[in-house]
Amino acid sequence: MAYKTLIVETQDHITLIKLNRPEALNALNSALIGELADAIDEANRDDKVRCIVITGSEKAFAAGADIKEMSEKSFVDVYMENLFADEFDRLCRSRKPIIAAVAGYALGGGCELAMACDFIIAGDNAKFGQPEINLGVIAGIGGTQRLTRFVGKSKAMDMHLTGRFMDAAEAESCGLVSRVVPAKKLMEEAMGAAAKIAEKSMVAVYAAKEAVNRSYETTLNEGILFERRLFHSLFASEDQKEGMAAFMEKREPQFRDK
Ligand code: CAA
Repeated sequence: MAYKTLIVETQDHITLIKLNRPEALNALNSALIGELADAIDEANRDDKVRCIVITGSEKAFAAGADIKEMSEKSFVDVYMENLFADEFDRLCRSRKPIIAAVAGYALGGGCELAMACDFIIAGDNAKFGQPEINLGVIAGIGGTQRLTRFVGKSKAMDMHLTGRFMDAAEAESCGLVSRVVPAKKLMEEAMGAAAKIAEKSMVAVYAAKEAVNRSYETTLNEGILFERRLFHSLFASEDQKEGMAAFMEKREPQFRDK
């Protein structure tokens, strides 16, 4: 599919989606967010794809929702079009893992997009923030909920109420990102992580993603029960037999997603 606001490449089982509105620091306008959801759906439909990476430019992952596009909208406009909701829901429904590779600004909807991915790898120049308060609004694509779950109430309140930015070191120390690497090495690191995931049994990958995500939606006991059921179910897969046999035979496993 041809995209106007994205550069999408699939190679070696990985779909790399580069947000591409440099003139607006990759601000999320309706065209970009719609194309992004389409690209994620397309990657999910493609049997060759085993992992997805979303990135921006060295200066900006995404500087938020497009303020110029939104500024004149009324309540009825955004309510009736359900601004961002359907596209974000589609992204969150991806069964294939999505890594956010963040350099530069990840602000507002950009920070929310990164948090909606499965994990975030940051360049050491990354800056995260929810500065919507400066515009007289609040986060609208999950930021008040996801950031709070990542970093706890105190820091989330600080970010949402003052609009201050958090640098990569702080983001790593409070658990917002999984790793920080020199900005120049960001794509190598993110593609390396995606390649590692792509080697695994997709049956186990889907199960792991489902189980971790369930921890956000349920009690500890229910979550542990859910995990146990999935863990037990994986013993019905050929990949479990192959993975454990390969360990004992001191060789690499040949997973077949069966
Ligand atoms: N929407 C639209 N255009 C944007 C934008 C945005 N969110 N962020 C940057 N741009 C545009 C600028 O208007 C500018 O365009 P022009 O050259 O045509 O004026 C261009 O990108 C470059 O930006 P700056 O000149 O401002 O670059 P800078 O390096 O001086 O500053 C910045 C960078 C600190 C990120 C600054 O651009 C900024 O504060 N951007 C807005 C951040 C923000 O408020 N994000 C939240 C948006 S609301 C939201 O996301 C709601 C939600 O939850 C869904």
